[in-house]
Amino acid sequence: MNKTSMILDVDTGVDDAFAVLFAALHPEIKLLGITCVDGNTNVDQVVANTLKTLDAAGAGDIPVARGAMRPLLGKSQYAEYVHGADGMGDLGMAPSKRKIDPRSAVELLRDLIEESKEPVTIVPLAPLTNIALFLRVFPETAKKIHRIVLMGGSASAGNATAAAEFNIWHDPEAAAIVFQSGVPITMYGLDVFMRPGITRGEATRLKNATEPSAQFAGALVEAFIERLHVSPITLGDFGAVASVIHPELFTTEMFDVVVDTSWGPARGQTICDRRDAFLKELEPLDLVDAAKVRVTLDLDVEAVRQLWLKTIDKGWV
Ligand code: BDR
Ligand code: CA
Repeated sequence: MNKTSMILDVDTGVDDAFAVLFAALHPEIKLLGITCVDGNTNVDQVVANTLKTLDAAGAGDIPVARGAMRPLLGKSQYAEYVHGADGMGDLGMAPSKRKIDPRSAVELLRDLIEESKEPVTIVPLAPLTNIALFLRVFPETAKKIHRIVLMGGSASAGNATAAAEFNIWHDPEAAAIVFQSGVPITMYGLDVFMRPGITRGEATRLKNATEPSAQFAGALVEAFIERLHVSPITLGDFGAVASVIHPELFTTEMFDVVVDTSWGPARGQTICDRRDAFLKELEPLDLVDAAKVRVTLDLDVEAVRQLWLKTIDKGWV
């Protein structure tokens, strides 16, 4: 079986936990390591949540490193109103006994990429601070990255603001560095992010399953539904991971994309040039420093949902 070597960068985060569980459990993913960053909550809490999630997955010894504790510019802006006071549903779980890796996030990224015999895909599910720092600190190693498939941005509306998606809005300068890096980038953004969902009924089934990964996932979904008063709730970040190993379930298109780093109302917007070809020719691109980015625009919702359910709960039918 061909496995995809992958590093996750997370701000766990309820939906980051859905993605971590999936990446740790899916047989076609070789999860090399996880780097943590300030985002949904503070970075120390992100580390604690990520370690607990690996426990629930029954994962082996996967290195987890602490990364940036704030964006490159500006201040931290957390999303605890969405993810809970502890950033992961306030389930009251005991702390993990796993040890955090002594290396910083950028050092762990460097070592894992240098040591890997296979091409490495980086999947950031959080603000891009760690990834931007890594690109700047270790540019020679960065050239070896196979591709970056990130959850972030939007070719339509925003969520943190009318224009901007949370991960990009939290650290637009970092996002601009990553988008302009020359590394092949696929953006899994708000155009698809909300679509694969899980219902309260499915959460109950997961909670009653025999596997700890399923029970944990069920409790998380339930907590998310109770907090947000909506059912179904989105599987969110997980979709980006799924798109790496099952690209046939996703529709993408290439666009010129610019991250707005101005301090106006569009700060953090990913401006995608979706004009018709003839208009682009008529009015050549006025976007400075646009990057060619593959943007995910559609997906097979039911197949993606089932992929997650069957991976999290081996007994799911
Ligand atoms: C993104 O922001 C976070 O709240 C989620 O974990 C996801 O990565 C959605 O905008
Ligand atoms: Ca996230």
